[in-house]
Amino acid sequence: ASITYIEHDGTEHVVDVKPGLSVMEGAIRNNVPGIDADCGGACACATCHVYVDEAWREATGKPSAMEESMLDFAEEVEPNSRLSCQIRVSDALDGLVVRLPENQH
Ligand code: FES
Repeated sequence: ASITYIEHDGTEHVVDVKPGLSVMEGAIRNNVPGIDADCGGACACATCHVYVDEAWREATGKPSAMEESMLDFAEEVEPNSRLSCQIRVSDALDGLVVRLPENQH
């Protein structure tokens, strides 16, 4: 699936991510900067914070309770904030657009 990651400064990275990987893994494997993923995708660090494009919020679903509680540790959380390790790439997400925060902490 084609995923567009937009850095805080507006730089776009359009990469092809295999279904089954997470949006976080897609960024790491394609050297997209801006996602740290300190915990390696265990929903335990909140350094894979992204903002899901409004048009894709429904398709990506809602964060789980565990993800919600981890998001409390991210900065500048918005209603469209997600932890990208918790978004599973599928063909239904072909064209997904996510924006990256200025910093990951
Ligand atoms: Fe740690 Fe997503 S990689 S919460």
